[in-house]
Amino acid sequence: MRRSVFAANWKMNKRVSEAAAFVNALEHELALDDRIHRNSTVILAPSATHLETVSRLLGETNIELGAQNCGTTRFGAFTGENSPAALHELGCHWVILGHSERRHVFKEDDAQIVARAKAALQDKLKVIYCVGELLQDRKSGQTTQVIESQLSALKTGELPAGFLDHFVLAYEPVWAIGTGETATAAQAQEVHAFIRQWLTKNFDVQTSERCRVLYGGSVKPENAASIMAEKDVDGLLVGTASLDPLVFAGVIRNGLKPKLERSSG
Ligand code: PGA
Repeated sequence: MRRSVFAANWKMNKRVSEAAAFVNALEHELALDDRIHRNSTVILAPSATHLETVSRLLGETNIELGAQNCGTTRFGAFTGENSPAALHELGCHWVILGHSERRHVFKEDDAQIVARAKAALQDKLKVIYCVGELLQDRKSGQTTQVIESQLSALKTGELPAGFLDHFVLAYEPVWAIGTGETATAAQAQEVHAFIRQWLTKNFDVQTSERCRVLYGGSVKPENAASIMAEKDVDGLLVGTASLDPLVFAGVIRNGLKPKLERSSG
């Protein structure tokens, strides 16, 4: 069975001084059920300003640290960007790339996102690579074409062989992000199954079976279980509901339940 992943994307929220209370409360909640750390990877991705503090707070916990983006190269004249080498030095294990806010608000294109991924891998950061369609794409029946074209960017030869072993994919329908509107479990599964087929076709069955594909977009404790019950959904990328440690812990607990039930019986 693929190990579940639950990632908190804080985006540009919270003060640095709020991090300690959050981490303590989350750790406390997760420690109440030892199946959580045994069966899933929990990632916390605060903004870059918080990384050093959060890295220290996470210390010996089992929660892994993620960044929300990284530069296209190790170092250089790129004002406002964050060096993947420095992110690794701060204790980051992961970096989120191609998030819809990066693609659509900050106009990052596929080539730039892949350059970031290449730089991330060079500095041993694992990548959460996000894909997702706009509402207009879905309405015009273009969902799978959009996903396919965002995935195809990974195949341009920039990335080293075996790169998918260091990747998690995330399907995040743009219309469901921060809107309160969630894809139904069936809608999520349909796209996740498409992504898995794409992986089989473009890589091989083993790679496809191994690769974790997360869902993101208005995930909350109330819908986590039904989405995670789908067979091709391996985890959740959580924005708004990750800002409160008790709510995020609820997402993890409820989301893991169907996977644990499946593996035990
Ligand atoms: P949301 O954000 O949970 O607030 O919809 C998800 C994301 O952007 O990763």
